[in-house]
Amino acid sequence: MSKFAPLLLINIGQLVTLRSAHPGPRRGSSLSELDIVENAAVLSLGGKIVSVGTAKDALLDPWLKKNRKKVAEIDCGGRVVLPGFVDSHTHPVFMEPRLVDFEKRIAGAGYEEIAAAGGGIRSSLDGVRKASKAALTQKVLDAVRDLAKHGTTTVEAKSGYGLNLESELKSLEAIRAAARQWPGTVVPTFLGAHVVPPEYRGRSQNYVEIVCKEMIPAVAKRKLAKFVDVFCDRGAFSEIECSRIFGAALEHGFAIRGHVGQLSSPKEGFIESTLECCQPASLDHMDHVRDDEVAALAKSDTVVTVVPGANYFLGLEKYPPARKFIDSGVAVALATDYNPGTSPTTSMSMAMSLACTHMKMSPAEAIAAATINGAFALGLADRKGSIEAGKDADMVVFDVRNYKEIPYWFGVNRCVQTIIGGVAST
Ligand code: NIG
Ligand code: FE
Repeated sequence: MSKFAPLLLINIGQLVTLRSAHPGPRRGSSLSELDIVENAAVLSLGGKIVSVGTAKDALLDPWLKKNRKKVAEIDCGGRVVLPGFVDSHTHPVFMEPRLVDFEKRIAGAGYEEIAAAGGGIRSSLDGVRKASKAALTQKVLDAVRDLAKHGTTTVEAKSGYGLNLESELKSLEAIRAAARQWPGTVVPTFLGAHVVPPEYRGRSQNYVEIVCKEMIPAVAKRKLAKFVDVFCDRGAFSEIECSRIFGAALEHGFAIRGHVGQLSSPKEGFIESTLECCQPASLDHMDHVRDDEVAALAKSDTVVTVVPGANYFLGLEKYPPARKFIDSGVAVALATDYNPGTSPTTSMSMAMSLACTHMKMSPAEAIAAATINGAFALGLADRKGSIEAGKDADMVVFDVRNYKEIPYWFGVNRCVQTIIGGVAST
C-alpha cells in the first residue's frame, strides 16, 4: 500500500484522540483529558490524518461514498485505537545485553558499585567500538522494529556507548542509517557525555574538553543530532561539567535534554539555572528532586520524562515522584529508557503499567504522557502525539475494549497493528 493511498480505520470501539483545545504540553488535570470518540473512524490521506469522527458520520461523507473503492480499509472490530507512542528516551546503539551485571545485581551488587568496578555503561564500550557501522545499524533497526511492534512510532535515539569521536560518530551514523530504513520517526541525540571512558579515568575535565571542542562541533557539522544529552549524576558528570557541555551544545545550535537526579540529588540551584540558561526540552529520570525544583519545573516549558523501567529493572523500591510532579503542574512524559543496563524493554505498555502501579499515575495520565507529552519532549507536537486532522497518520490498534486495559495487562503485547504515515506496517 502506498503512503499516498487513502486509509480508513473503521469500527473503532474507543478512539483515543488526545485532541486538545490548549497549546503546550499537558499538565495537571489536562493529562487525563483523552478526548475519546466511541464507534469511531479515522481517514488519512498522503500520510496525514484528514478526518476524525464517528463511523456513522464517516460513512455519510460524500467524498468517502464516492471513493470507497479507492480507500484501503482496516476494520478495527471494536478495538481501541490511539496515537502511536512517542518514546522520548532510548539508548538503542549497543551490541550485547549486559548479562554479567544482571546476575551480579541479582546476587546483591548495586548499579553504582558495578559501574565503579568497570561494569555498567563502560562494559558496553568494547562491543560498540569494535562493531562495524552496518552491525550497529542492524541493532538500531532491530530495536525500532521491536518498538513499533509494541506500538511506538516515534523514537528518540541516543548515542553514548562509543565515548570517543570515531565511535560516537559511528553510533549516530548508525541511527541515521536505521532511520532511513524504517518508516517511523527517529530523533537522534548525542550523548558523548554518558560516562568518562576508561582512558580518561581521573581526567574527566580532559574528556569534557574533547566533548565540547571536538565531538560537539563534529556532530554539528555532520548534522547528526537534534539534541545533546548529558548524564549528570554521581559517578558520571558533575553539574559544572554538565553546564559546560550544555553551553557548547547551545553554541552549536543543539537543543538540550539531560539525565538528572537518577542516583543522587543534583547540587542546589542546578536545575533552576539549567532551566534558565538552556530551556531543556526535557529533564529525565528525576528520582531525586526537591520541592523548590518541582515548583521551578512547573513554571517552565521543560518536560520531565519519567522512566520507571529503570527503577523496575534495578529492583529499586523508590520510583520518581510522578504524582507530585503532576499535582504540582509539571508537564510529565513517560518513556521506556530502552538500554542494556537499566531498562532492556521496548514495551511502552510495560512502562505505562509501572507508571500506574508504582507511581500512581492513572491509565489516562500514562497514555497522555506516552504520546502527546512525549511529542512535546521532542519538539514534535505539531506532527505527533494525537489523532487530529493535519497530524501524521501514526496510529496503533490494541486488542482491548477499554484503553485502561493497556497498562492493566502487564508483560504482554496487545498491540495488533501499527500504522505509520498512513500505512499499516505490522
Ligand atoms: O538512562 N543513566 C544513564 N543512562 C542509562 C543507563 C545506561 C546503561 O546502564 O547502559 C539510563 O538509565
Ligand atoms: Fe537513559
